[in-house]
Amino acid sequence: MPTRTDVAIVGAGPAGLLLAHLLQREGIGVVVLEAKSREYLETSPHRIRAGVMEWGTREILVQAGLGEGLLQNGYEHQGIYLAHAGELHRIDFPSLAEGWRIWVYGQQYQVRDMIARFLEEGGEILFEHEVVGLADLTTAPKVRYRTPEGQEGELEAMFVVGADGSHSRARSFVPGLLLKQTTYPFAWLGILAETAPAAEELIYASHERGFALFSMRSPNLARNYLQVSPEENPDDWPEERIWEELNLRLGGVARVEPGPLLEKSLTPHRAFVAEPMQYGRFFLVGDAAHVVPPTGAKGMNLAVADAVALFQALWAFYKKGEEEGLRRYTQTCLDHVWQGEFFSYWMTHLLHAQPDPFQEGLRRAHLAQVLSSEALKRFLAENYTGRRTTGRWVRSLA
Ligand code: PHB
Repeated sequence: MPTRTDVAIVGAGPAGLLLAHLLQREGIGVVVLEAKSREYLETSPHRIRAGVMEWGTREILVQAGLGEGLLQNGYEHQGIYLAHAGELHRIDFPSLAEGWRIWVYGQQYQVRDMIARFLEEGGEILFEHEVVGLADLTTAPKVRYRTPEGQEGELEAMFVVGADGSHSRARSFVPGLLLKQTTYPFAWLGILAETAPAAEELIYASHERGFALFSMRSPNLARNYLQVSPEENPDDWPEERIWEELNLRLGGVARVEPGPLLEKSLTPHRAFVAEPMQYGRFFLVGDAAHVVPPTGAKGMNLAVADAVALFQALWAFYKKGEEEGLRRYTQTCLDHVWQGEFFSYWMTHLLHAQPDPFQEGLRRAHLAQVLSSEALKRFLAENYTGRRTTGRWVRSLA
């Protein structure tokens, strides 16, 4: 059992694993603690997350040496469709966002790839180790954990990173963090099914019955979502009802053929930002620090941007003795974090049917503006692809 390391990272998700890999590559000591088992992370259907990478995220992962799987098994998309009133409107990314586009590869697959790579390189991940306390975060941090056998242990570290997702256990031990949060009156009922996707690119469908999204993991794995109320019971949605509703909301612009369901789940929308994202020698990254509703597909992309930002600050500390980057970490991240929150909010409200008739009237006016305005399409493309926001982290990595 390791008892001392440079950087202890709580959570083996995209942010924690990317940071761990980047640090290890530079010879900085790192130990990752993960409450769940490797098998759970890699195969549980409850772990299914979004599948859209901004071009910058793809570039960062490739440059970091973590791109083998995504390059082999992912897909480039040069646009998305907005469906409304029986018509398909294409948002062409390269022409609107100076060549930027997106890459479709499931987050769960990327996590599996990063675990394999990190372990191959001699990295240490303590699976099924639950963090039960953090101490002395402003002086000499300690991570207290419980092993799968129920024994307690302690890891001393120079720095501790909370990368353990939206329900972060690590965050709960840190005093003085303010959660700025909001709720959205929406949830998504999501399915993964063995059938062809509705189209070759994603369709975001606005319909008076509610929003629907048609995404994919491969040419024969469709990932679709329906806007429902957060109080909805997924049991009230047998398979036939889901397929019928998906096709209704497509409004005739395409069709999805029913296929065997591999997963079905309800995700209520929520959003928060924890400020500051640090305390003494403790730092938050990814969903532990901020959550966005899924409409803009920003979650993993913001997590990757945080991980790169923190890596650069830690690198400057270990290689040059500079502390300024660490001191400014929150300030550095809050820029892309709030841009991500804003865009997710914007796209969510643009596309989700509102129960309130006045709000719904405003929404339709908003959508009519977007569908007829080159400037607003450019705004959408620049944010969806990340060119305007997280994009700067690619350039800084070179
Ligand atoms: C997905 O493929 O799961 C997905 C795609 C785009 C989103 C959200 C989820 O905005």
